[in-house]
Amino acid sequence: MRDTDCTAFLHWCLPRLGMRWAGYRRVRRQVCKRLGRRMTDLGLAGVSAYRRYLETHPAEWPVLDGFCRITVSRFYRDKGVFAGLERHVLPALARQAAARGQAGLRCWCAGCASGEEPYSLNILWQLGPGRDFPRLSLTIVATDADAVLLERARAGRYGPGSLRDVPAGWLDTAFEHSRGVYRLRPAFRRNVAFRRQDIRQRLPGGEFDLVLCRNLAFTYFDEAGQRRVVERLARRLRPGGVLVVGRRERLPQSETFTPSAGAPGLYRKRNDG
Ligand SMILES: C[S@@+](CC[C@H](N)C(=O)[O-])C[C@H]1O[C@@H](n2cnc3c(N)ncnc32)[C@H](O)[C@@H]1O
Repeated sequence: MRDTDCTAFLHWCLPRLGMRWAGYRRVRRQVCKRLGRRMTDLGLAGVSAYRRYLETHPAEWPVLDGFCRITVSRFYRDKGVFAGLERHVLPALARQAAARGQAGLRCWCAGCASGEEPYSLNILWQLGPGRDFPRLSLTIVATDADAVLLERARAGRYGPGSLRDVPAGWLDTAFEHSRGVYRLRPAFRRNVAFRRQDIRQRLPGGEFDLVLCRNLAFTYFDEAGQRRVVERLARRLRPGGVLVVGRRERLPQSETFTPSAGAPGLYRKRNDG
């Protein structure tokens, strides 16, 4: 399929899915490849035929929606963010939780891909600030819309490419290595629960001290979708809790969150929010 055809098709379908072209411009080839395969499977000659197919087969829209999920992730992605979490955010949240008499910190990773992000957070806590708060547990709920990615997350096995950014020492401490496969040790898988959830439809229960929603809603969703997600995330964060978005993402205007010093992409929920 020609790039111009695929681009024209994405300009047509993305707004109908509540997505925005700006988020896809750089990564469109991943989606175009999947679309090409789908059209071949359906025996369709090109994007015009696929467009007609979508107009007469409403059940195809959720399939297309699935093709538009960008799944790139890796451990310790954007190290400045993890450094900020380690030095400032987690210790502050832990002190706050201890003062409130909480038994632990609750975290939610929305759009967790194959587990790289929630496991990074868990390793970071256990090898870093968690040592200063031995009586405080850290539990993570990790959600994603993609069942295949979640299966990989539960298996906890990764290739070297997923681990290229991790700090020195993590590989030996947190992983068992055999023939190019790194398997996360059980101690670092504990306290991470994976659930299949579409952030547009469902939220995990309870309140969280920390929510990571990176490289998902605030890159790919349209403005209305982003505003809905901000409201939903705010509902799940405790007052004083922290929201982390991607390094290049900005939150839509919100009365509830204030940008937090320390690292890009960190926002604090106001105590009266
Ligand atoms: C680009 S990856 C980002 C992964 C990780 N947060 C990071 O920053 O490295 C986006 C993830 O969001 C998931 N996703 C896309 N749409 C979603 C939705 N509506 N609800 C939940 N997860 C979604 C994708 O399956 C993918 O795993």
